Amino acid sequence: MGSKGILSKRAVNTESPVMVQIQELLRGVKGAISLAQGIVYWQPPKEALEKVQELVWEPSISRYGADEGLPELREALTKKLLEENKLCKSSVMVTAGANQAFVNIVLALCDAGDSVVMFAPYYFNSYMSLQMTGVTNILVGPGDPTTLHPDADWLEKTLRETKPTPKFITIVNPGNPSGTYIPEPLLKKISDICENAGCWLVVDNTYEYFMYDGLKHSCIEGNHILNIFSFSKAYGMMGWRVGYIAFPSEVKDLAQQLLKIQDNIPICAPLISQRLALHSMEVGSQWVTDQVKDLVKNRQLLANALSPLGKGAVKGGEGAIYLWAKLPEKFVDDFKVVRWLANKHGVVLIPGSSCGGPGHVRVSFGGLMENDCRLASERLKRGLEELVKDGMI
Ligand SMILES: Cc1ncc(COP(=O)(O)O)c(C=O)c1O
Repeated sequence: MGSKGILSKRAVNTESPVMVQIQELLRGVKGAISLAQGIVYWQPPKEALEKVQELVWEPSISRYGADEGLPELREALTKKLLEENKLCKSSVMVTAGANQAFVNIVLALCDAGDSVVMFAPYYFNSYMSLQMTGVTNILVGPGDPTTLHPDADWLEKTLRETKPTPKFITIVNPGNPSGTYIPEPLLKKISDICENAGCWLVVDNTYEYFMYDGLKHSCIEGNHILNIFSFSKAYGMMGWRVGYIAFPSEVKDLAQQLLKIQDNIPICAPLISQRLALHSMEVGSQWVTDQVKDLVKNRQLLANALSPLGKGAVKGGEGAIYLWAKLPEKFVDDFKVVRWLANKHGVVLIPGSSCGGPGHVRVSFGGLMENDCRLASERLKRGLEELVKDGMI
């Protein structure tokens, strides 16, 4: 029997993680610059790091903590949800990052064989989490060709016509991989459609603080809505692994189901990381906003680098840390273009096909400081000019 026969079909049939493939590509090209991974270049606030440095000797840090999170952190998050996100009927569970929050939610809401809805281009890890938990009937809806906003009419029709009704709809706002922001009226419309159809809405707000050009992020609340948040990008805490779920307090038994899953995956998010999250919150969200402000220059550099692709080819970037760009029609194999750009021009992007958007690329403008970003954008522009003029020679 081949090894595949003794491995779970759920795992074997799950897409391979694109980031692992990209990291391999990066390792193989000396001096390549990455515009691929969704990261920020800053570290957590200095004051917060200094405080946790002292905590490593405290015995309680090395024990297990409460499954749902440190009481002090949950208290601070409840206040933050109320004041910043206007969520007043939500309970909090702290997770080991937003990705784990999503897995908790999928396991608490869905059974293998259920259907769910996402919109293209989608966040690849959410897609994989569904596949690996047996939720393989993933209906992928279209976005508006100009704005990339989820098509609410398609959603209404699909929820009406699909039996049994899909379990949940998931969206990322502002989006990964597009950086598109879903304005509040559309978010409310999507929420109403979900409520009327009797299905859940899961909103990933990982990039809530990453808003540009005067746009303001907003959240919605309801007994059919779960909101996901993350400390990873906002406070430069990617490797510390802290995120959280805000879920409706009034829904009977939901907390209990989430707790069962939590107890079997991380038990609790790392305690030292939860402390760092708490101390970072004490520094305040203005600190995050100040970091995010500087990303506008990177976005501009990279939008310019993408200009050889032509007018209308570049979309998104109103929020998050991404631009989404369409390659010329003849380059259907986006992975091939990504490999060519890496090998010939020393710059690495994410192929759109990994996000359900073949023929596109995702460019991240969060991971490099301005000077490095300038160098990366020069390389990218030269590469794209050559691609458009002469092809992949
Ligand atoms: C939309 C979205 N959700 C979740 C994550 C993962 O966040 P975390 O590090 O908190 O697991 C990312 C990371 O890129 C993301 O873009």
